Amino acid sequence: MTDEEKRELFSSLIHKISPVTPVTPVTHLVKGPVKRPEDDPNKALQIVCELLKEEVPHYDWVGFYLTDPNAERELVLGPFSGAPTEHVRIPFGHGICGQAAERKQTFIVPDVAAETNYLSCSPHVKSEIVLPILKAGEVMGELDIDSHTIDAFSEEDRAFLLKVCYAVSRLLYRVQEARKS
Ligand code: SME
Repeated sequence: MTDEEKRELFSSLIHKISPVTPVTPVTHLVKGPVKRPEDDPNKALQIVCELLKEEVPHYDWVGFYLTDPNAERELVLGPFSGAPTEHVRIPFGHGICGQAAERKQTFIVPDVAAETNYLSCSPHVKSEIVLPILKAGEVMGELDIDSHTIDAFSEEDRAFLLKVCYAVSRLLYRVQEARKS
């Protein structure tokens, strides 16, 4: 997919994602017992994962990891779309996800086979992008995307996914608050 094709696809896709992540809580807008997916932050994040996976040909696994509010420097798997993964918990520093959390930096890995600190979910995965989502300077969670295509992620992906992370940050916060024990 060329960067021009990506730009077109991403610009239409952000318009599909925005209604799922409204700025104003839907409960303030809707009178009566009407429930929409946005009322349930887990469900809204799930819809975002499915939209990304279904609409972007080179996104083959899309998921959110959350910083576990009940554990020390550990990520826990949240909503995702794609094959189930054994990596449900990832300590900071481990794999691409753990490194992105530790360094608070986006990681783009064009060829996962060339990485030593990498946690494999499937032999089909060839490249990966992980974007940390911060609140008050701390990592609240991450958006993790795997591709079966080598070198699938460009600056177009990074710019688009940064917007997605911004849009979902409040949902992620609500999910994390609900998990606090
Ligand atoms: N590959 C990741 C693990 C998560 S799976 O991609 C779903 C990593 O190295 O951290």
